[in-house]
Amino acid sequence: MEKRDTVSLLAGGRSTMSPSYSPQSVVLDHGKGMRVWDREGKEYLDFLGGIAVLSLGHAHPAMVAALTDQISKLTHISNIYFSEPQILLQEELIRRTFADRVFFCNSGAEANEAAIKLARRYARIVQRSPKFELITLEGSFHGRTYGAVSATAQPKYHEGFEPMVPGFSYAKFNDLASVEARWTAHTAAVMVEPVQGEGGVRVASRDFMQGLRRLCDERGALLIVDEVQSGIGRTGRFLATEHYGVEPDIVTLAKGLGGGVPIGATLAKESVAAAFT
Ligand SMILES: Cc1ncc(COP(=O)(O)O)c(C=O)c1O
Repeated sequence: MEKRDTVSLLAGGRSTMSPSYSPQSVVLDHGKGMRVWDREGKEYLDFLGGIAVLSLGHAHPAMVAALTDQISKLTHISNIYFSEPQILLQEELIRRTFADRVFFCNSGAEANEAAIKLARRYARIVQRSPKFELITLEGSFHGRTYGAVSATAQPKYHEGFEPMVPGFSYAKFNDLASVEARWTAHTAAVMVEPVQGEGGVRVASRDFMQGLRRLCDERGALLIVDEVQSGIGRTGRFLATEHYGVEPDIVTLAKGLGGGVPIGATLAKESVAAAFT
């Protein structure tokens, strides 16, 4: 393949990529640990980590070996068969968390879509109730698919995409009274990030998290915790929720779970997961 110079590559990149993002004027070539190099060999320290994705950094030897081994055996088999790594990962996630069941998908947005669907279905199938609404928090980010972006309580992500998926209402972060004010007879779940990432690295207070658990218990709703960005050891515990002495009903994971390989997971207690038949 003809080697294109960087200026021409950047021009090509800018004119052909969807204008939804505006990347830096750098064409990265390779990385090692937390360092990356561009095509000219200039070295950078990567403080972004793919936005909290690269839990093992770039090109970690164990990850390269595991992926190389796996891709030379099986790349994809659908959900119609089992594979050994899939089962081992399910068991490991269950061993480390509150969960009894794991649903795998490809991204954080999909993990949240599954959580939203599971909460609605749990209300319908298990509780035999018409509840369907979710309360989410201002400043949140739950992903870019329609359900997840409708759950995302930031107007800038909705602009021009309306109408959003119905059934979401937005309360103030760290303000239990605001959550109570949004509560209706149709509230099926509350969805919260223990540390809001996109919202500016805002940490939920202990009172708030415990208050959400209490409200959900008292009123028969599910507590969904989005740990796509805060999970996988980023706060010193496997799940950030562990800092709060609160047991969620559903947790979503992605980002650091794959270290850069697309994967998402929706974790749930048996009683809740049972709605997903
Ligand atoms: C808290 C949170 N939830 C969900 C998502 C969406 O994840 P993905 O980009 O894998 O769809 C993100 C991504 O930044 C996130 O920070």
